[in-house]
Amino acid sequence: MFEAMSLDLLAAQARTCTACRLAATRINVVFGEGNPDAQLLIIGEGPGEEEDKTGRPFVGKAGQLLDKILEAAGIARESVYIGNIVKCRPPNNRVPLPDEFKACTTLWLNKQLELIQPQIIVPLGATACEYFLGEKVSITKIRGQWMEWQGIKLFPMFHPAYLLRNPARTPGSPKHLTWIDIQEVKKALD
Ligand code: URA
Repeated sequence: MFEAMSLDLLAAQARTCTACRLAATRINVVFGEGNPDAQLLIIGEGPGEEEDKTGRPFVGKAGQLLDKILEAAGIARESVYIGNIVKCRPPNNRVPLPDEFKACTTLWLNKQLELIQPQIIVPLGATACEYFLGEKVSITKIRGQWMEWQGIKLFPMFHPAYLLRNPARTPGSPKHLTWIDIQEVKKALD
């Protein structure tokens, strides 16, 4: 009998994926986690070292900062769904190559999006924005603006790893702007 595709089933399939070279170097497939009925979907670039070790997205230093950003705006991490463009760690955390990006989004992210059907998508950083906007973009130019992707609200924000490299909190700094941005997201969720 036909079994309706669920996120769990999709995750189980993804765990055996060998569609690109990242399969050879990964420890774990980091499919994504969170509320399958989330209103808000947060998408990063790809797993780092801690994520690869644990199989969970955004649990390393950048993830801890993401937790603080969400907490500051009163958004519970458990209420959202968190995933990545590529599900396997690129060696030395390099940017995913175009064929890795294409294979992984075609096989997994597209389907995740269909199953979750979020109301708001927050792509973190330039790589995640590239998927939704279909071209390379400067995150500095597009962050903090409401856009639309296939009828879903899109609100690009800086990647927390970028904020770790730019820790100033002065007015107009990436961190300061991010605190403003996440409050805008929270407002849209209420
Ligand atoms: N950076 C990302 O883009 N994703 C993670 O899951 C962790 C760090």
